[in-house]
Amino acid sequence: MNAVRIGLLGLGTVGGGTLELLARNGDEIARRAGRPIRVTHASVRDAGRPRGPQAANVQLLADPFELVHHPQIDIVAELIGGIEPARALVLAAINAGKHVVTANKALIAHHGNEIFEAARRAGVAVGFEAAVAGGIPIIKTLREGLAGNRIQGLAGIINGTSNYILTQMRDAGLDFATALADAQRLGYAEADPSFDIDGVDAAHKLSILAAIAFGMPLCFDQVHVEGIRGLSAMDVDYAGQLGYRLKLLGIARRTERGVQLRVHPTLLPQRHLLAQVDGVINAVLVDSDALGQSLYYGAGAGAGPTASAVVADLIDIARALTIDPEHRVPYLAFHHDRLQALPILPI
Ligand code: HSE
Repeated sequence: MNAVRIGLLGLGTVGGGTLELLARNGDEIARRAGRPIRVTHASVRDAGRPRGPQAANVQLLADPFELVHHPQIDIVAELIGGIEPARALVLAAINAGKHVVTANKALIAHHGNEIFEAARRAGVAVGFEAAVAGGIPIIKTLREGLAGNRIQGLAGIINGTSNYILTQMRDAGLDFATALADAQRLGYAEADPSFDIDGVDAAHKLSILAAIAFGMPLCFDQVHVEGIRGLSAMDVDYAGQLGYRLKLLGIARRTERGVQLRVHPTLLPQRHLLAQVDGVINAVLVDSDALGQSLYYGAGAGAGPTASAVVADLIDIARALTIDPEHRVPYLAFHHDRLQALPILPI
């Protein structure tokens, strides 16, 4: 059967990881998807930069708009991050009838409603598993694994950089600035690290999780956000002496009056499951009526974990494309007809 043809917008850390994973597990992936998945094109800023061997058969384009309109591409994977030109490129791809996979949490948090509506009109899928909690399949879990449940709430460590900083301050006695510099050097932090330490990145992800968990529109602007910038080594130390650990949590809770969405440093008893989560790891604790509490834990950033989520979405779409269109379940798109108007409560 013909390969599904992928165009990558961006061939940096995640793009390179995606190419590598598709090459390494290509046979198994083809069996699972029902057909091979092949990256045929990639748009890059610097075509002269040396790339790995997997890029040898990939046609590099300097103009990303040429890629999203390319007639020989079935799925566009947006891996450049940021709002513009990512938004314009994703909308152009959708309007050109391409399915889209993205790892871009800021884009989905700010413009997801518009993007999902455009995808619904165009009849294409948008996969965004990689946008939240790196490789942990939390979007699929909320949407599919827990589909029969009413989700009461969730709480998660969903920014690896701030969790790494708090862990290093506690375990290695580092001060805030040194721990942040380490996280940047290791490639965990956002291009603008204030997104990590001021809670903005966690709020992006929380708004996406809440939209899926509660079937509500994305509402990033209504999330209460406090980051870890003001915390000192002394705060972390005192928390420990009192039997607690300081964690930056994203919390979404359904109440009878509406939904509460908040990101802030939280004191957790040392025996709490989320208190045990250290380093760049993410974890999300979900409370749902039939299952009860369930915990999802894993690497929240990095080439391999993020590529794991990107490739999972590519496989889902490739599999759907092999099914007769009449019988496709377009579950990857986020349908507005499922959305409820839930009030967001002030904190
Ligand atoms: N800066 C993000 C984090 C990267 O630290 O979690 C993954 O979204």
